[in-house]
Amino acid sequence: MDRIRIVGGQRLNGTIPISGAKNATLPLMIASLLTADTLVLENVPRLADVRLLQHILGNHGVDVMIAGKRPGEPDNAGQTLHISAKNIVDTTAPYDLVSRMRASFWVIAPLVARMGEARVSMPGGCAIGTRPVDLLIMALEQLGAEIEIDGGYVVARARKGLRGGAIKFPKVTVSGTHVAVMAAALANGTTVIDNAACEPEIGDVADCLNKMGARISGAGTPRIVIEGVAKLNGARHAVLPDRIETGTYAMAVAMTGGDVLLQNTRPELLQAGLDVLVEAGVGITPTNEGIRVSRNGSALRPVAVTTQPFPGFPTDLQAQLMALMTRARGTSHITETIFENRFMHVQELARLGARIHLDGERATIEGVEKLKGAPVMATDLRASVSLVIAALAAEGETMVNRVYHLDRGFERLEAKLGACGAVIERISG
Ligand code: UD1
Repeated sequence: MDRIRIVGGQRLNGTIPISGAKNATLPLMIASLLTADTLVLENVPRLADVRLLQHILGNHGVDVMIAGKRPGEPDNAGQTLHISAKNIVDTTAPYDLVSRMRASFWVIAPLVARMGEARVSMPGGCAIGTRPVDLLIMALEQLGAEIEIDGGYVVARARKGLRGGAIKFPKVTVSGTHVAVMAAALANGTTVIDNAACEPEIGDVADCLNKMGARISGAGTPRIVIEGVAKLNGARHAVLPDRIETGTYAMAVAMTGGDVLLQNTRPELLQAGLDVLVEAGVGITPTNEGIRVSRNGSALRPVAVTTQPFPGFPTDLQAQLMALMTRARGTSHITETIFENRFMHVQELARLGARIHLDGERATIEGVEKLKGAPVMATDLRASVSLVIAALAAEGETMVNRVYHLDRGFERLEAKLGACGAVIERISG
């Protein structure tokens, strides 16, 4: 397995291009199952999760063609995927595939909506908690699907098609909202979703579905109204910028000091995250090209942050913020309210010299004068990148093991940081 070696202490200066959002790309690829026509997705990031989903969709009979490079196209341009689910040959998503990527469970929605039937393995727990799918099932039932649990599989049936209905989520769920919107797009009649997730990726998927002929309004607000249509068409859609990648590099620059332009991204996608950085003493300047992040000499101030659904501070930036606060002058508090077990980075950060105390869902971080490099590893995506951020400011060498997790969600991480002056290399094998 690859490792990443980092020698800390360099400031970051230059430009980092931000890729298309992983968390929009995955549901957009899954939405291709809703139509027999070709869906063209632009600005798709080159990520292990995208390749894995391509494989999973292939199992259902979906063809994915990746367009070659165009003349004059920069190295960092996103990929263009031509996705065709003309013939769905199999409505079963097996355990060995779904267990490798939780989001692939979401295929249940387009499969039952278009084919009247789906048999999808329950994903099981994962490193950040139990992560149940009860609300996804509830949403499908509200749209008339009959659900049965059989041998670890969720079997959804709607022989005569789904029908519009009222879905009220008892808690905000991104996965539940994606599933409800996709299923309702092809249901007979009108669906109203209340307490819907407002994450920008929900809006992006709804925009794409509307280009495909769906009739969705209110995506990005807590109430989404969908008038079902009988059939969806192909479309061309560019994936929105990755707000988590944006926030991650913003925190890396905040950690090392320096001045970096985060290109092709927009501040409104992560305003709560940027506000916290400003509070910590980091310079944030929106420009026509993206967001400029700078810190020159000043100490980091401690912050108190609670993760919340959008537009609050995202759980997917919690680990990175914690890494940053290990070097603040004073004591910070971070409360995690979205996932039950999302503090696995704490023990690894401690190996680098961080002082963090955990009490249930609340972490208290006492800023330290310096971190010191060490071998570390992590078992989830955002936790691994928090170790990279810490390593960039640690004295000496840090070896980040199990880079597999980073490759799931961060495109060419070592190239992007290396181009701004970080001493970072991938060691294969
Ligand atoms: C998505 C993101 C993930 C992000 C998370 C929260 C993708 C591919 N992943 O994950 O990066 O961290 O949103 O912003 O977009 N829940 C239930 N029952 C359900 C579904 C969810 O109890 O049926 C709970 C979860 O356990 C969790 C909370 O609801 O505590 C939020 O989960 P959800 O928003 O659904 O997260 P994901 O869509 O899995």
